[in-house]
Amino acid sequence: MKDIYILSVETSCDETSIAIVKNGNEVVALTILTQMDTHAKYGGVVPEIASRMHTENITMVLEETLQKAKMEIKDVDAIAVTYAPGLLGSLLVGVEFAKVLSYVYNKPLIKVNHLIGHIYANKIDNHLEFPNLALIISGGHTELIKMTGDYEFELLGETQDDAIGEAFDKVARVLGLKYPGGPNIEKLAEEGKPEYKLPKVAHDDSYNFSYSGLKSSVINLVNNEKQRGNEINKANLACSFQTTAVEELTRKLEKALKETNIKNVIIAGGVSANKYLRNKIDELCKKYNATLNLPEFIYCTDNAAMIGAAAYPLYLKGEFADLDLNAESTARIC
Ligand code: KG4
Ligand code: ZN
Repeated sequence: MKDIYILSVETSCDETSIAIVKNGNEVVALTILTQMDTHAKYGGVVPEIASRMHTENITMVLEETLQKAKMEIKDVDAIAVTYAPGLLGSLLVGVEFAKVLSYVYNKPLIKVNHLIGHIYANKIDNHLEFPNLALIISGGHTELIKMTGDYEFELLGETQDDAIGEAFDKVARVLGLKYPGGPNIEKLAEEGKPEYKLPKVAHDDSYNFSYSGLKSSVINLVNNEKQRGNEINKANLACSFQTTAVEELTRKLEKALKETNIKNVIIAGGVSANKYLRNKIDELCKKYNATLNLPEFIYCTDNAAMIGAAAYPLYLKGEFADLDLNAESTARIC
């Protein structure tokens, strides 16, 4: 069969990224331009600034990607783009850009859900085994999904309140750490011990998650100690928070491993870059004789290569989008 090259565009949050992916799992070229330093000044992503920066940079990101790949747009077989979920203004920049490329170069357009992109990041330089349990852990999502085949998803559980990444970011802020909080909490936690007793999330029988109670208990603890004039051991608190947050994930994943007897596990989304979490999930998978699939670090956080990987099965099925494609800020996988 002829090799298929997909040019993919990702602008759902604060990374402007374009990739060329061959046959759904080989990255020919990838460019990621992060706006992190700009948003760090404000303590979080400012949507208006994000979309303006995407507009300013996207052409340059395309040029750089084509140069790295030594290819021209006419050489690719399709244009893929993240259309949802994410920041509407940011998504729109990518969607309109991809639509123009598709129209001008007469290439089919493929719309990709960002979360499905995170799952397919596991397919890069690898392949997906089915059935599998996929844990999506990002700034906006905490979901446990059962996959029985390409694009066959069953939602087992999801967060009832805050996403795990959101909890990391908010706890980081109250500890005075810079945005994005997740990696900074991880770094600080390495120097600490889990000595603060934080409330565990109430056990229930579902696969759903909850993070707002844990987040609030850290914020309350910091405020109470401040009022009393007591010093907080930030490294110990970061470590206690990270330990409890990861326990909530492993508890539900363990329940799913036991009850479904599925032997393949995937982790996806920005929080999957966390090494402590990777180790804990790895230990759990070993206990149940399950294989853990982990994306390389660079493919854990937002990038266009994962969008190209997720677009490939849609290309094979001929599932193409029309030029009236619109961005959507929310969208479910299933
Ligand atoms: O997938 P992603 O890049 O964007 C979304 O789709 O949300 O995930 C971003 C989230 C942020 O909340 C960030 O703090 C978190 O992933 N994150 C981490 C780590 N690296 C990124 N959380 C914990 N530990 C990390 N090393
Ligand atoms: Zn993401």
